[in-house]
Amino acid sequence: ALVSMRELLDHAAANSYGIPAFNVNNLEQVQAVMAAADEVGAPVILQASAGARKYAGEPFIKHLIQAAIEMYPHIPLVMHQDHGQSPDVCQGAINLGFSSVMMDGSLEADGKTIASYDYNVDVTRKVVDMAHKLGVTVEGELGCLGSLETMKGDKEDGHGTDATMTREQLLTDPEQAADFVKKTQLDALAIAIGTSHGAYKFTRKPTGDILAIDRIKEIHRRLPNTHLVMHGSSSVPQELLAQINQYGGKMKETYGVPVEEIQKAIQFGVRKINIDTDIRLAMTGAVRKFLAENPDKFDAREWLKPAREAAKQVCKQRYIEFGCEGQA
Ligand code: G3H
Ligand code: 13P
Ligand code: NA
Ligand code: ZN
Repeated sequence: ALVSMRELLDHAAANSYGIPAFNVNNLEQVQAVMAAADEVGAPVILQASAGARKYAGEPFIKHLIQAAIEMYPHIPLVMHQDHGQSPDVCQGAINLGFSSVMMDGSLEADGKTIASYDYNVDVTRKVVDMAHKLGVTVEGELGCLGSLETMKGDKEDGHGTDATMTREQLLTDPEQAADFVKKTQLDALAIAIGTSHGAYKFTRKPTGDILAIDRIKEIHRRLPNTHLVMHGSSSVPQELLAQINQYGGKMKETYGVPVEEIQKAIQFGVRKINIDTDIRLAMTGAVRKFLAENPDKFDAREWLKPAREAAKQVCKQRYIEFGCEGQA
C-alpha cells in the first residue's frame, strides 16, 4: 500500500534501521526492488528523478509504481520525487500521486547555481506548506553535495554545480541545519558530508578526511526528530566494476561509500539512503556478461532477466545490511 515517507521513516527511527531509497526508471528496476523487498520483508522507497520522468514519461512512472502497489499490496511503499528543483516540480509530482517530494533548494531552479540560504528556506517552506496539507512528506537539502578530494561540487549527473567550493560549503553546518528545520518544518533533511552522485566519488577507499560520517552525529544531536538523508550513497562494489571491465567495459578505478560507513551513519541517525549507481553498475555488468557469452541471442527478455536479477541482488543486500529485514 502507498504510505507517506514520514510513516516509514518514523518506524525506521523508532527501530534504529535505515531504508535504502532506490531510483527507478523502468519496469525491470521496479520489479527488482519489489522482488528484493518481498523476499526479505522490507518496506520500499521508490524514487523518480526528473530524468526518470523524462526517460519513461510521467504516466509510465506513475503506473509502474501503481503496478508495484497492486502486485505487492502487503508491502508499505513510498513514491518519492527525487531532487525536485522548484516548488512547481514538487506540485507536479504531488498531482501525479507521489506521497513524498524532495525540494532541493541547495541549488537554484537552474540546477547549477549555488542558492543562498534564504532562497533555500523560502522554497522549502513553500513546498512544506502545500505538501503537508495533503499528507505528503517533504525532504529538503542543506549544503551542497560534492567531493572533499577535489573541493568541487557535484554536477556529473546533471543536477549539481561544478564550482570550486570551500570545505564549509561541502559540509552541512549543524547550527544552520537546526535553524533550517525550525524555519521550514520539513520531515527529512539531506545533508552534505562528502558524498557525491555517480560512480566517481573517491579515488581511494574513503577515510574521515574525505567522508565526514562524524558530522552526522552533531547534526542528529541538534535535530533528534528530523530524519536524516544521505544522497550519493552507492558503494560502487569493486566486483561489479571488474565484471563490467572484464566484458568490454572501460570504467576507471573508483570507490564508493563503504557499507560499514553507511551502517555507522544509520547508528548516528540517517534513515534514508539514496542508491542509484549500484543498480546501474549491476545491470550493466550483467548485460555485458550475458551478451558477451551469448553473442547469438537477441530476445531482449533474455538479457534483461540477468540484469533484473543482478539489480535484485544489490537491493536485497542493502535491505539486509541496513536492517530492513522483517520491518515491513
Ligand atoms: O540524484 C541522482 C540520481 O542518481 C538520479 O539520476 O538524474 O540521472 O536520473 P538521474
Ligand atoms: P548514487 O549515485 O550514489 O547512487 O546516489 C543516488 C542519489 O543520491 C539519488 O538522489
Ligand atoms: Na544538491
Ligand atoms: Zn541525490
